[in-house]
Amino acid sequence: MSSTPDLLKSRDGVLDSALRPTLWDEYMGQGHVKANIKVLLQAAKKRGDMPEHVLFYGPPGVGKTTLAHLVAITLEAPLKTTSGVAIERAGDLAAILTNLEPGTVLFIDEIHQLSHKIEELLYPALESGSLDIILGKGPSARTVELTLPPFMLVGATTRMAQLSSPLRSRFGGGVYQLDFYTDDELRSIIARSAEKLGIDASPAVIERIASRSRATPRVANALLKRVRDFSEVHERPLTPEVCDEACQLFGIDSLGLTKDDRRYLETLRTGFKGGPAGVRALASSMHEDPDTIENVYEPYLLRLGFIERSSRGRILTDEGKRYLLQS
Ligand SMILES: Nc1ncnc2c1ncn2[C@@H]1O[C@H](COP(=O)(O)OP(=O)(O)OP(=O)(O)O)[C@@H](O)[C@H]1O
Ligand SMILES: [Mg+2]
Repeated sequence: MSSTPDLLKSRDGVLDSALRPTLWDEYMGQGHVKANIKVLLQAAKKRGDMPEHVLFYGPPGVGKTTLAHLVAITLEAPLKTTSGVAIERAGDLAAILTNLEPGTVLFIDEIHQLSHKIEELLYPALESGSLDIILGKGPSARTVELTLPPFMLVGATTRMAQLSSPLRSRFGGGVYQLDFYTDDELRSIIARSAEKLGIDASPAVIERIASRSRATPRVANALLKRVRDFSEVHERPLTPEVCDEACQLFGIDSLGLTKDDRRYLETLRTGFKGGPAGVRALASSMHEDPDTIENVYEPYLLRLGFIERSSRGRILTDEGKRYLLQS
């Protein structure tokens, strides 16, 4: 049975796109980011220019891809989606950029995965809308400068620390951090999703799901769908008690934490005497990938105040210890 981090690790593309807001009013929270982006887009539209490039960063499932879609919708522009890992060779980038319809929003997801070489090629494209292509080899090789169709780059990453500072500085339209969501915002998101999916969810049910959603819209939507499945299979109306039973079956506790989160905290407590523990050492003793530890488990545990990150590694806080004693 998959648990909440799995709901985060694996993107349910079908559910994501079925529930993805297509209007700004449906995009809850992140008020600061929304206000800035709207000004950027409106000003550019007024001038008849493409807006400057922007970057969104934050944990998985908090709405980065959704924002890229909203940017394209607002500009009434085509959206071309790719990812850092898909652009392997210089030719891949050249093919994408030279084939863009003028005025396209180019969304590069997980942009921290671009290689250094590709990044360097991207700089002139971002600064002056041109691409330097080397034709031929050896002494007869020459560089040709191609003028690109105008485009706006929207980058997204879950790993801001891995982004080079020269690349970061090329986002003239701003670098925006997306935050976790409040319970209030999550409740609005769940209510809208329930309506869209035709699920009859009372405020008490919505409340229950919100409190177990790790402050993350994608988890909220996935959990809503799974408790609905549970109530249908058991032929019982969707009540808060049914939500509790479903969550118990999924291994999700009242804070939205799972056995994997508890295993992380327990490893830190017993294997490393509460820390400090380096992320690699922790990952290896949990047989997990350090990236998953850092980007899936830790952001929410940090937010709960159960762990702290210090220069020497992760530390289990008193609150984290108390949680372990109770669970
Ligand atoms: N602000 C929001 N308001 C309403 N729904 C949201 C919001 N943000 C995200 N969602 C919902 O959560 C789903 C996941 O969001 P999205 O795909 O944009 O996350 P992401 O940050 O791109 O995640 P990842 O890092 O895994 O790519 C969306 O399809 C949408 O249904
Ligand atoms: Mg995304």
